[in-house]
Amino acid sequence: MRKKEGPVQVPWVVLKFGGTSVASFAGWRTIGHEAAERAGSRRVALVCSALAGVTDLLERAVTAARTGNEGDDLARVGRAHEALAAAAGLDPAGPALEPMRAVLEEAGRLLQGVWLTGEAPPRLVARVLAAGELAATRLGAAILGSLGVGARWLDARDLLLSAPRPLEADERRYLAATVPAARAPERLEAAAGNARVVVTQGFIARTPEGDTCLLGRGGGDTSASLLAALAGAEAVEIWTDLPGLFTADPREVPAARLIRSVGYREARELASLGAKVLHPPCLDPAARHGIPVTIRCTPHPEMAGTRIEGESEAQPAVTAVTCRRGGTLLSMSTVAMWDTPGFLARFFSPFEELGISVDLIGTSEAAISVTLDSLPGGVEGRVFRRLLAGLEELGEVRVIHPCAVVSIVGRRIRATLGEIAPALTAFQERPVHLISNSAEDLNLSFVVDEEEGTPLVRRLHDLLFSNRGDDPRLGPTWERLRGAPAPAPATPWWERRRGELLALAADGQPRYVYDLATVRERARRLEDRLTAVDRLYYSMKANPHPAILDALHAEGFGIECVSIQEVEAARGRLGREAPLLFTPNFCPAGEYERAAALGAELTVDGPQLAEVAPRLLTGRGVAVRLDPGWGAGHHEKVRTGGPGSKFGLPPEELGGLRAALEAAGARIVGLHAHLGSGILDPAAWPALARLLASLAATAGGALQWIDLGGGLGVPERPGQPELDLEAVQAGLAPIAAALPGIELRLEPGRYVVAEAGVLLAPVTQVRRKARTVYVGVATGMNSLIRPALYGAWHPIVNLSRHPAPPDLFAQVVGPICESGDVLGRDRWLAHPEPGDVLLIGNAGAYGHAMASHYNLRPPAQEVVLD
Ligand code: LLP
Repeated sequence: MRKKEGPVQVPWVVLKFGGTSVASFAGWRTIGHEAAERAGSRRVALVCSALAGVTDLLERAVTAARTGNEGDDLARVGRAHEALAAAAGLDPAGPALEPMRAVLEEAGRLLQGVWLTGEAPPRLVARVLAAGELAATRLGAAILGSLGVGARWLDARDLLLSAPRPLEADERRYLAATVPAARAPERLEAAAGNARVVVTQGFIARTPEGDTCLLGRGGGDTSASLLAALAGAEAVEIWTDLPGLFTADPREVPAARLIRSVGYREARELASLGAKVLHPPCLDPAARHGIPVTIRCTPHPEMAGTRIEGESEAQPAVTAVTCRRGGTLLSMSTVAMWDTPGFLARFFSPFEELGISVDLIGTSEAAISVTLDSLPGGVEGRVFRRLLAGLEELGEVRVIHPCAVVSIVGRRIRATLGEIAPALTAFQERPVHLISNSAEDLNLSFVVDEEEGTPLVRRLHDLLFSNRGDDPRLGPTWERLRGAPAPAPATPWWERRRGELLALAADGQPRYVYDLATVRERARRLEDRLTAVDRLYYSMKANPHPAILDALHAEGFGIECVSIQEVEAARGRLGREAPLLFTPNFCPAGEYERAAALGAELTVDGPQLAEVAPRLLTGRGVAVRLDPGWGAGHHEKVRTGGPGSKFGLPPEELGGLRAALEAAGARIVGLHAHLGSGILDPAAWPALARLLASLAATAGGALQWIDLGGGLGVPERPGQPELDLEAVQAGLAPIAAALPGIELRLEPGRYVVAEAGVLLAPVTQVRRKARTVYVGVATGMNSLIRPALYGAWHPIVNLSRHPAPPDLFAQVVGPICESGDVLGRDRWLAHPEPGDVLLIGNAGAYGHAMASHYNLRPPAQEVVLD
């Protein structure tokens, strides 16, 4: 017999809207729109907070009533609701507003009781405060009705039931209740009937005795998560006025980036370590039932927000930098700890007696340090004094207050140490009192003096995130999302030459355009500011355009070449006099021969040449490229030092190579190293110079120069600081002074040409697909592969409309047949239309030089402006 099929269950989705979202009619329009959109294929439960500020007013009203004052707080609550009703165009005399008014009148009667008795037991306070959510949802249901979205009003107390512990104090039982995450879809079905959309309250629930109870401040998010668990919902969306979780607190770090996706445990860690968007416990019910939670932004429903779900990928990752202030560090040292079983239990017993919870812990054989982040009564208080008295019996106690806990948050942090390592320079010369790695491996935390917190977060964030390009887990920066203009340093050249540029792209063809004046200006900047450097070479791989070689040759630069073709091009263009360096990697010996014949200085990075072509070396001075053991740069693919890189000779092999070279009749005249590309940390080159200087003796008495490679970065993203050349100079000067007779060299590529070049990309189509707007342009990764290859971020403006303010949030894509053909993700543009010309900035380095004919589409042609 065929089994009878039951009715197809339409899945629920739960949308939670916070106080700011429900306080304006615009917010309710978004709520209505989002509910209606989902109601086509889902059932929608809207969970709403009280209007912003209302819970505070109700709390004040309780205090006023208890102390015998009248106060006008409840009247203000009433006025806020009436004003919203008026903004929504609801008839003030009509029946739609009656349920809302009834809620507030009841609150008035309860307050009257408090006033009369002078008592405000928690059971009653809960009923007064619940009026905020009840009134907001009563009004909300009326507004939704007027918008044509029929939403059934449900009392959350019929859905969420608390489970008080037997001896629980009334404070907890009524004002900070615990509601277990039970699955009971029939409860919601019964209340909802056949309604497609229901609206109910966050923050409130019912005790087993039938009384109103609250989930504690911030509990609205927990309500949504609990309701989703109850309904077995498909998803929970938490709508707030922020677009999601960020890689740092955006108020401190405007360049903080939106986190697009994160696991439950990491998100909880972020919330408890300082991210304000989420109430830490709210994720637990959803996590337990495997329901994904998305944070969405009511003022910007088009933004995708942050998605929180199970950690399917176990990849280690650094997700954010957080800071918690106002903590206290307590250290105790004593010899009594040695070999004393149970000593730690004695140490912790006064904490237990006094109800003080400990946050981070570090121990050794003779000392123990802990941090306390909430201390009843503070460090001046009686509780803390008693704690100290208890501990002083055990050993010598030291207190540091206030301190800050700066944390690097992510998953499998212990596996990211290599990646984090360069960022730890942020701690140089800053006292760290304690380091702790959470047992779950979700954070690495540093306890520092409180005033160090903010500068450290900024510096760490810069070092950890500024080079993360288009990491798919990360979205736009906070300042971009706010649409705030990037702090433009000076007018870029392309603004001044906008007319010429638009004329160049008027035929609809993409073009690379280079401004030689900018190339010269950058070259002079390096010469003027880096006086510790004796000679500059241009790394022509960044952009080998002949006009650029000419310009830099005229500025006195030598040329650094990495292939015989580069040597031939430079020699052919610049003549016999131009100093050339040949710094290839894994290249055939024959290329060395030809490069030597063309008068280039040779750099070797292994024994190959001495083995296969010793005659070429006889009587010659050569340079040796070393692997310093670490690398740096904007992306792992461009970091060229360390055990994972194919470049350079390990320093410990220098002595052996010198012997081999000398046996072939050669001398070492140069030491060379290159850390990587796109480095913004000014300490990188001085550190490298120190290492190479320490190897001078091993290289032998013929040493004439030390070359610190290139890698000087330019800011990519708005808000990123420029490379501090003064700091590079200050770091190099004493090292140069200690190396008399030895020339210091640098060989930058990007720094001189990146900002001098733009890619002009005419718009071919503007198209919305589902929720995403795509702006198609005439060229893509065939002209500029950096976004696809490294996730690099290039600024994009609609040059045709410039300087009109951006108003469209879009993805800028090319015509190449790969999903990776995206030139810019999540960009704000000024209403682009087909025929407009987009300008893609910062494209002078590694743009055309890396272009291809992929799909047989020729890359953009180059034009030079002098
Ligand atoms: N010296 C050597 C030995 C190099 O390998 C490089 C770059 C430079 C100097 C110049 O580095 P710069 O100052 O331009 O950072 N395609 C990548 C960059 C690769 C750099 C390769 N080597 C990008 O588009 O970011």
